[in-house]
Amino acid sequence: MSAVVDMARLGSEARGARSRAYAPYSKFRVGAAVLLDNGAVVLGSNIENASFGLTCCAERVAIFSSRVQHPSAKIVALAVSAGDDSHPHEGEHTRMPCGACRQVMVEFMPSTAQVWIDGVGAQTLAELLPSPFKL
Ligand code: THU
Repeated sequence: MSAVVDMARLGSEARGARSRAYAPYSKFRVGAAVLLDNGAVVLGSNIENASFGLTCCAERVAIFSSRVQHPSAKIVALAVSAGDDSHPHEGEHTRMPCGACRQVMVEFMPSTAQVWIDGVGAQTLAELLPSPFKL
């Protein structure tokens, strides 16, 4: 089933979530918004740590949170908004989700789920990660 998704609204939720990023080290703020098939929207932002490797990406915060808050709801769409406040006009490579988050998307999102990336547009999971790791 492919739902009609208001991506403009979900994108603006992701932009709003960017403002909640905790990114004092990189200054690179990321917001994510997950839309579920029950209509709920779950937000995430990147959360950094002085021990850099402990940082969590916005996409994973949103996806993992959605699994805890609405365990039986399916993910319909994900919107991501990323950017460096000190270099707001960087190229689109700075906006794309990292490889680890793409692998997590494949684990928890159906292949029909829609992904929208601020400044880039719509992407399918297959475009983002054509050959995911499978166990
Ligand atoms: N980051 C995300 O939140 N999502 C991504 O897909 C890539 C990177 C965050 C992690 C870190 O806080 C900052 O961006 C710079 O890497």
